[in-house]
Amino acid sequence: MSSRALAKIILCGEHAVVYGQPAIAAPFEALCVTVESQPGESGSGLTIRAHDTGQELHIVSDNETYGDALSYAAQLFLLELHMPIPDLILDVHSTIPIGGGLGSGAAVTTALMRELGVALGKSLTNEQLNPLVYEVEMLHHGTPSGVDNTVIVYERAVWFVRGQEPQTLTFGAPITLLVADSGIRGSTLETVAHVRQRYESERARVQLLLDQIGSLVKHARIALEAGNHWQLGQVFNANHAALCELGVSTPALDRLVQAAVDAGAQGAKLSGGGGGGNIIALVDPATAHKVSSALSQAGAVYIWQTSISSGS
Ligand code: PMV
Repeated sequence: MSSRALAKIILCGEHAVVYGQPAIAAPFEALCVTVESQPGESGSGLTIRAHDTGQELHIVSDNETYGDALSYAAQLFLLELHMPIPDLILDVHSTIPIGGGLGSGAAVTTALMRELGVALGKSLTNEQLNPLVYEVEMLHHGTPSGVDNTVIVYERAVWFVRGQEPQTLTFGAPITLLVADSGIRGSTLETVAHVRQRYESERARVQLLLDQIGSLVKHARIALEAGNHWQLGQVFNANHAALCELGVSTPALDRLVQAAVDAGAQGAKLSGGGGGGNIIALVDPATAHKVSSALSQAGAVYIWQTSISSGS
């Protein structure tokens, strides 16, 4: 038996979404987490083997707190369903880079909870699962907006505003993106804290930037729904500039964004928490290869091409 959760891409609105502005995010089908289960020996408790990080965790007692996100996710799920610790082995495999702004944490939690549900015959609905994944996200991010868990659990492109029901977006035409990894791991916890600190010390200036990003996201929605990729590209560029002003970009990310635009991308921006991680570039599929080789020359360590359309 196995369960899966996809990575995600924030198209626009990251950081400002923490302050109540909208964000647009979509599943990223090139990368995913898979969790397989098999029965454990009687009395062995729950074993979680995270093959990509080399972690092997043993949960044997309800009363113990284990401190890591995987154990917390499993315990939270069992608590929600009033289930005792099962004799079970969960094998976690992920192709999503950690600290890449692609939702690795939320995807691991989602796949793990789904597989626990399958193994125990007690699956949760997405509506039940989403707040549980959010709770584990708090360990990773401190004050997450909820955009990551929402897009990963529902697995569709969403318009997300903190505290509101997510809306499914209808794209006028599919978009093609290149996702390029700077190879530098970012800490969303740190970049979110950095923005918070600036928000406290330079409220008027930062509020202006957050409002500006919110207005860009509204333009992005109009562009996406109309299938106007030129306009969407302009929004990406302006959103990246605002994120630079917020102080969450890095020279490596800026280099990748510039290389993509110079090579003919319709627009490019960092995606996710920043401080490292990935950029996304909106491209015409016919000329994507040119942008891809420019990104590679500018230092991208991985480049994925993906197409996103409504409901995906
Ligand atoms: O997990 P990441 O790196 O994709 O970042 C999430 C997006 C932020 O807006 C920076 C934080 C949040 O909670 O929404």
